[in-house]
Amino acid sequence: MTEEEEKDGEVPEEHSLESLGKLPGVGSTTLSKLKDAGYTTLQAVAVVTPEELSVDAGVPITTAQKIISAARQALNITFKTALELKQERMNTRKITTSSKNLDELLGGGIETRMLTEVFGEYGSGKTQICHQLSVNVQLPEDKGGLRGKAVYIDTEGTFRWERIEAMAKGLGLDPDEIMSNIYWIRAINSNHQMEVVGKLFEFVNEEYIRLVIVDSVTSHFRAEYPGRENLAARQQKLNKHLHQLVRLAEVYNIAVVITNQVMSRPDVFYGDPTQAVGGHVMYHAPGVRVQLKRSRGNKRIARIVDAPHLPEGETVFAITEWGIRDPD
Ligand code: GTP
Ligand code: MG
Repeated sequence: MTEEEEKDGEVPEEHSLESLGKLPGVGSTTLSKLKDAGYTTLQAVAVVTPEELSVDAGVPITTAQKIISAARQALNITFKTALELKQERMNTRKITTSSKNLDELLGGGIETRMLTEVFGEYGSGKTQICHQLSVNVQLPEDKGGLRGKAVYIDTEGTFRWERIEAMAKGLGLDPDEIMSNIYWIRAINSNHQMEVVGKLFEFVNEEYIRLVIVDSVTSHFRAEYPGRENLAARQQKLNKHLHQLVRLAEVYNIAVVITNQVMSRPDVFYGDPTQAVGGHVMYHAPGVRVQLKRSRGNKRIARIVDAPHLPEGETVFAITEWGIRDPD
């Protein structure tokens, strides 16, 4: 993919699924099966596992492998040179949080092409930050936005349009316009949550989506796989979901923000072993982890946890009527 194409975030004509049909090993029958299963872009095919594609397209795993590698080749998802990596890095954009302190801590804001996990105790501001980012991604570049739209995957039913309205007003933006560029969906269980993300591989292209939120990423998984005995199965499925999200961020150079509620006193929550081991879910996935803690009044403390490219540190921000700000 050239730099120009990356900038637009649009899939050029030759990357449409039709071009898969021209590749060796993909006949018209397979092509129509792929279409029926909802794969309409090469990207959608390139990021699934052979096992998934095998089920979705009703083809043997070996055929699925061939199709996926054909798609990856067509998209140039193969080796990259160090120079290309540098160029990608320079293409990374940032979304402001509306708090200078928080932006500084994050090295300028929430990054694209990457997963950001915001974790912390209840009331620490995870959902408020997600709301703020859904507004801020729409700002022009010189104001810290990407002129893009947001997708808000809500698993706990805590999205409030009233907060979006207030935050838009707080920035002097037209609330109705801002609200019309945030696509909200309630994920009803973990399977649905994963299905929605799968669909985003097409939707992100159709609309100019530059931010995807999953608030919270863990609640359904915790409810459906309770206790120590289900931990392995839960983590395996969650890892698959995280992987999906990482790919989404990388393929489209967009920001993906996930939240995760973590108790501040793991010792009193020994029933849940992921709490006891202390925190974030992205043990293996690349990305940035931000831990939030409640402080006095409307103040909150944010801390960066093991981000390879960011210095460790912490800062204070505030949750106000108009959204996230620096404290007075
Ligand atoms: P859980 O989802 O329960 O884990 O918490 P969370 O980390 O998502 O917390 P959330 O972002 O919902 O923060 C809730 C806090 O934000 C509240 O305790 C309030 O302090 C603040 N807050 C929420 N709405 C408003 C509002 O309309 N005005 C003001 N001033 N503060 C608000
Ligand atoms: Mg919340």
